Amino acid sequence: MKINKINKKIKVGVVFGGKSPEHEVSIVSARGIIENIDKAIFGVVEIFIDKKGLFWFGNGKNKKRFDPFKNSKDIDVFFPIIHGQSGEDGEIQGLFRTINKPFVGADILASSICLDKGIFKLILKAEGLSQVEFEILDYKKMPEKQIASLISKTRKEFSFPVFVKPCNSGSSVGIYKVKNKKDLSKYINLSRKFDFRIVVEESVELAREIEVAVIGNNYSNIEASLPGEIIAGAEFYDYNDKYKDGKAETVAPANISSAQRVQIQKLAVEVYSLTCCEGLARVDFFIDKKGKIFINEINTLPGFTPISMYPKMWQASGLNYKSLITKLIMLALKKK
Ligand SMILES: Nc1ncnc2c1ncn2[C@@H]1O[C@H](COP(=O)(O)OP(=O)(O)OP(=O)(O)O)[C@@H](O)[C@H]1O
Ligand SMILES: [Mg+2]
Repeated sequence: MKINKINKKIKVGVVFGGKSPEHEVSIVSARGIIENIDKAIFGVVEIFIDKKGLFWFGNGKNKKRFDPFKNSKDIDVFFPIIHGQSGEDGEIQGLFRTINKPFVGADILASSICLDKGIFKLILKAEGLSQVEFEILDYKKMPEKQIASLISKTRKEFSFPVFVKPCNSGSSVGIYKVKNKKDLSKYINLSRKFDFRIVVEESVELAREIEVAVIGNNYSNIEASLPGEIIAGAEFYDYNDKYKDGKAETVAPANISSAQRVQIQKLAVEVYSLTCCEGLARVDFFIDKKGKIFINEINTLPGFTPISMYPKMWQASGLNYKSLITKLIMLALKKK
């Protein structure tokens, strides 16, 4: 007897591109997902956001506009894979909430907390979690005098080199390593081209850069992967080093002691929970020469190409790329 069973596939709206400097990286991440998603379970609708922020069905030549309000009816779940501003900061998450659709990854609150390097650091500080010394300069809210005194404080009290970073950035854009105290203001001004809030922080010299992939929605299912390591090919892991020069090496699992591994995994889950993350995030650390661990940052939509650190660390932990994609979509549907 022929069983006429229609197995309806789950329709996934993969949203990529976007307005941030990480537009191209997002396209590669999305291609990885679209090519590797389990086609027995899922159907894909490609949604491309151009650099102006306009939505399209895919990014082919004769593409048609995608209207999230009119064209989302058949989409069961969205998978945004846009790094940086507008994709990772809560903006698009707010849109999914407005149209009442589930989506992969962090919700509005976690996204905006985690994309802002300043707010993230203040939250870690409130919990007494290990990080480097820092100051935040807010050129909109602070009078000039206050900024000048904070800058002179960092000159006096911080050990140089320091890093200067726009609070809202990504992919190392607008980030400078300042070796000489006299150059500090110059680099702060360069960094201000990207944001009016700037973090000045001490550098962890000769640091090892260790990362952990975290997955899950709540205390009963949040898991940390085996840590991985980035070995920067340049003075630091800047934009060229990340995406152009190809000299940086990534290693998973990282060659660290099991005590360090346990401590880093525990911290990663703590940071993930503290910032209200759901779905996925990559938590990045430094280990200094003496073995001290510092939390650097958290990324709620980390690079997701098949060779990116996030999938690579899960691969090293026994979860392959295809299964990882399935797991993330299932977590999104469970949130609903
Ligand atoms: N305090 C620090 N000490 C040593 N190295 C640092 C420090 N801060 C940043 N770096 C170097 O600069 C790189 C980029 O800085 P960071 O990770 O803060 O921003 P980002 O990578 O632009 O953010 P995102 O990961 O969201 O794209 C790091 O990977 C590291 O190589
Ligand atoms: Mg980083």
